[in-house]
Amino acid sequence: MSTRPTWVEISLSQLAENYRIIRNHVGPQRAIMAVVKADAYSHGLQKVADTLAGLGVEWFGVTSADEGVKLRRRGISQHILLLTGFWKGDQSALTEHNLVPAIYSEDQLGMLEAWGQRARKPIRFHLKVNTGMGRLGIHWQEVKPFLEAYRRMKHVELEGLFTHFAAAEDFTTRQTEEQIERFHSVKQSLIRAGVRPRYCHQANSAAIVSRPESWDDMVRPGGLLYGAHPPVRAKEGSSEPRCRSLPVQGVLTFKTRVIAVKQVPAGIPLGYGGRYVTPRLSRIAAIPAGYADGLDRRLSGKGKAILCGQCVPIVGNISMDLTLLDVTEIPQVAVGEEVILIGSKGSCSLAALDLAEMAGTIAYEIFCGISKRVPRRHVS
Ligand SMILES: Cc1ncc(COP(=O)(O)O)c(C=O)c1O
Repeated sequence: MSTRPTWVEISLSQLAENYRIIRNHVGPQRAIMAVVKADAYSHGLQKVADTLAGLGVEWFGVTSADEGVKLRRRGISQHILLLTGFWKGDQSALTEHNLVPAIYSEDQLGMLEAWGQRARKPIRFHLKVNTGMGRLGIHWQEVKPFLEAYRRMKHVELEGLFTHFAAAEDFTTRQTEEQIERFHSVKQSLIRAGVRPRYCHQANSAAIVSRPESWDDMVRPGGLLYGAHPPVRAKEGSSEPRCRSLPVQGVLTFKTRVIAVKQVPAGIPLGYGGRYVTPRLSRIAAIPAGYADGLDRRLSGKGKAILCGQCVPIVGNISMDLTLLDVTEIPQVAVGEEVILIGSKGSCSLAALDLAEMAGTIAYEIFCGISKRVPRRHVS
């Protein structure tokens, strides 16, 4: 149990609220797959999964079998999709724990068939199609030979067909429209061949917000559940009516406390490299959080923190375990004062997206960067 005053609070009630917002938005007629890979985007897999399972989520999406087995061992009985597929050695994980792999090659299909035969029960899978992301997936024009191979097999079941968008938040290009059209054509060719997958699914958070034509049988929110609203980009001058936003809010608050405050004369260099030099007589607070905790070093000299309901600047280089704040404007700051690094208080807000923009990255990397040494405290 860490006694260091640096921690993350996860609001399970806000998570539940975000889930309800998404559910109302997409309607009860389609399933929701909550994407909880990477320790639920760093929000703590178990509590997040328990909360969403209690609200009736139908599916969980994880990256691989080890994450799926963790969910099963914690009593999760919902369907689980392994979004990045499976590896040699995953046979018992798949068959004993009833995990459903994504697959994207005939070789994988053959391996799954052999495992299903050995286990004497069919193994369900979801076929991943590359419609334009260019990462994993059978190319949308090359599904036919896969389908022919599939029809010869007896111990595998094509339960789902899915694709992943590269830029669903971007309305300045036709890329997503093209991906949707290609997906639709693959779906039709499957149906013509007599294969109707139970679940066709495409939509990630950005498409859930603004592309209802892609919702199909199931949607797959990740970031949106955790309150990271995708920054939808409309065409210049366009009043695109679908570029609206959902009222989800951040679930995670990254907190620490002041451990030292000192008065520093003007002209004194602070921190590694001495790049920051006090421009005036300053009050400087030290906090026990640094880049080893996930406070991105690219925020050095740019980032902010919230103290006493006000925003103050991070000064000097962020170090591994410590960071300095200029609190000259808040004379009452003393040792023990609570500091918010991600979150909001009063009228001040520092969302993961704000940090991401300052650091030149995306909100998801800010979440995933919060290291394991920072305890997660789940509150409702
Ligand atoms: C296949 C797949 N679906 C859905 C998601 C969720 O995406 P988002 O967090 O943008 O909703 C991911 C996340 O990367 C993914 O890989």
